[in-house]
Amino acid sequence: MQAFTQYTPTKIVFGKDTEKKVGKLAKSGGATKVFVVYGGGSVVRSGLLDRVTKAILDAGLAVKTFGGVKPNPRLSFARNAVKEAISFGTDFVLAVGGGSVIDTAKAVSHGVANPQTDIWDFWSRKKTVEKSLPVGVVLTLAAAGSETSDSAVLTNEETRIKRGLTTDFNRPDFAIMNPELTYTLPKYQVGCGVVDIMMHTLDRYFTLTEHNELTDEIAEGLLRTVIKNGAIAIKDSHNYNAMSEIMWAGSLSHNGLTGLGAVKDFAVHQLGHELSAKFDIAHGASLSAVWEAWATYVFKEKPKRFAQYARNVWGVKESDDEKASLEGIEKTVAYFQSLDMPTSFGQAPEVGIKTEEELRKMADGCSYGNTRTIGSFKVCNREDIYEIYRRANK
Ligand code: NZQ
Ligand code: ZN
Repeated sequence: MQAFTQYTPTKIVFGKDTEKKVGKLAKSGGATKVFVVYGGGSVVRSGLLDRVTKAILDAGLAVKTFGGVKPNPRLSFARNAVKEAISFGTDFVLAVGGGSVIDTAKAVSHGVANPQTDIWDFWSRKKTVEKSLPVGVVLTLAAAGSETSDSAVLTNEETRIKRGLTTDFNRPDFAIMNPELTYTLPKYQVGCGVVDIMMHTLDRYFTLTEHNELTDEIAEGLLRTVIKNGAIAIKDSHNYNAMSEIMWAGSLSHNGLTGLGAVKDFAVHQLGHELSAKFDIAHGASLSAVWEAWATYVFKEKPKRFAQYARNVWGVKESDDEKASLEGIEKTVAYFQSLDMPTSFGQAPEVGIKTEEELRKMADGCSYGNTRTIGSFKVCNREDIYEIYRRANK
């Protein structure tokens, strides 16, 4: 094992009916006034929001609900939520939903604790988060891993920039995970979730760092589990066994464990964020749309690594590393397609086929105007990013 720091303080409460514990958990986290953030209405329709509100009131706490978070959550909404939360006297923020709701709740917690600061200053690196309010989560969608991660992603809709903020202040206090709460997910969101969970591990697994045997075994085991159960879940979102394995994998995949000791890559996430910022495509779909193009462009940096993935995750028997790499890439792409996820721009209606000029603009956006590179397996500059987008443009 290589050197690492692992900090995953979130208390996980996993299993059926666990949302009933939300009031007591918030109270033991110091809450007196709980500001509940939710999305476009799925938790209203399912009755979950009512159950959560009741559990909070039963614990003797005050509660205010604030809904309307959209996928690829917007900065302007988060700013409004901060104002509402301050006027309520919030001392605890609760997210009831998926990654977009959780990330907005994290933004609210930073905003309330730092009322003099515009929250985007944290995302644009002008300021560092030094204090925040505690956040709890009732998870309804296994995908982003935000329920235990140190990250929160917002889109500034004025500038069309989607950016993540990484800080340990983003780690939630607790995460309630009842797999039954994910039964109502549309098939498309199940597919997006499976891709995102795989990608949080793949974006760590494709590293040049060696000698992290246990990390590799954990990553490969997680990928095999998600691939197997994803195929079941996409056909039947009411399958408890499949939905529960995926739900736990979603947290483990993005809490750091599957990349411990290794330099992270995360180029595919950066390529995808540019697509979501410009075309508002769902996060998971943005990743599957570029993965093949990225993988075929970079695998020759170290075919041995891609061959290990192909053999240990997909059971590829080929002894030649380059051929095995390509087989592993093909199997991954075929799997994404079996989930009905796009594997190119042409398959993603939000994006569509682009002109060369548009591709150049996208590469410029992703490289922040040629001021940064992305990735570490292969460090990609603006020209590399253009080439990857060009390959995905089919
Ligand atoms: O808004 P509602 O009505 O609740 O509907 C949502 C939304 O339309 C729906 N949904 C959620 N749970 C449901 C449900 N529908 C029926 N039944 C349920 N149980 O699903 C749709 C998508 O929700 P969203 O929260 O956007 O999805 P996801 O969890 O995939 O989150 C995506 C966001 O997280 C960011 C992404 O970039 C994107 O903005 N990420 C956050 C990360 C983090 N904080 O660590 C890491 C990730 O890499 C990712 O970047
Ligand atoms: Zn992701």
